[in-house]
Amino acid sequence: MKEKLQEIKKRALEDILELKTLDELEKFRIKFLGKKGELTLVLRDMGKLSKEERPVVGQIANDIRQEIEKKLLEIKTELINKAKREKIEEEKIDITIDTDEIMVGHRHPLLKTIDELEDLFISMGFTVVEGPEIETVKNNFDALNSPENHPSRDLSDTFYLNDELLLRTHTSPVQIRAMKEMGAPLKIISAGRTFRFDDVDDTHSPMFHQLEGLVIGENISMANLIHTLDIFIKELFGKDMETRYRPHHFPFTEPSAEVDVSCIKCRGEGCEECSFTGWSMELLGCGMVHPKVLENCGIDSEKYTGFAFGMGIDRITMVKYGIDDIRLLFENDMRFLKQF
Ligand code: PHE
Repeated sequence: MKEKLQEIKKRALEDILELKTLDELEKFRIKFLGKKGELTLVLRDMGKLSKEERPVVGQIANDIRQEIEKKLLEIKTELINKAKREKIEEEKIDITIDTDEIMVGHRHPLLKTIDELEDLFISMGFTVVEGPEIETVKNNFDALNSPENHPSRDLSDTFYLNDELLLRTHTSPVQIRAMKEMGAPLKIISAGRTFRFDDVDDTHSPMFHQLEGLVIGENISMANLIHTLDIFIKELFGKDMETRYRPHHFPFTEPSAEVDVSCIKCRGEGCEECSFTGWSMELLGCGMVHPKVLENCGIDSEKYTGFAFGMGIDRITMVKYGIDDIRLLFENDMRFLKQF
């Protein structure tokens, strides 16, 4: 009987290594340890043994049962873990996988224009300077020779913070700051925000952008002004662009002019866009710096002369990119901005 038990043990421990599934494992358990299992059947014959032998064989049988059960538990645990691992693997979600495209931003069309304009003027030897958006009434008007009764000083035109401070109505006060800080000679540009009491429509906004330019030196003349601006306009819009200087008035320049350029669309041929004139609306204001303005900044107007110009950057951007409503530039609608 002992041999029979050892034989069962040997076979069981061999077979056990072949078990691949929980199903097979259960079948194996029934085969050896079940009510009608091999081990159980052998023990039924215990009665035939002697009194002395019975506990010994009983002990052996128990040991074998325990050993097999222990092995079975090990294998069962391993099989369950393996099944779990497989399930996890199967249901795994790769969170590192790309789903939606990541949106990468880019510069605003207005800033792109400013960059381009600055690059152009830098290539012509200008230095870029900055001025504050909150200005003194003095710099914005008085030092620029704008008289107390000038309409642009009116409450309905200008955002005053108090009697002395306002949101600058143009970038020209940067001229004053530059001349006072740097003296003559001088060659600067300055771009930034400007503010006027305008009702919003497709071409007007109470906040808009300008680029200011100022050149001060000995023997600077109107010829230098026209040459510089002509080069700039041809570089920006193309060699075939013509310019037209119309007399105008600004308190801080004398003489003053407004500059028209060929119609961007027909390049001077005449089309509906330009009402068949061949010219686009005025692009910038300019003139020879008024001697009073030079003197206000401590520059000898007998020795030095200079020219200045100011242009609307929003309009240039709109023309460049074919944008027909200024509001689009400030609404931050991604569907619009993505196009540029
Ligand atoms: N500051 C003027 C404006 O806002 C433009 C200008 C600048 C004109 C410099 C002449 C010289 O309209």
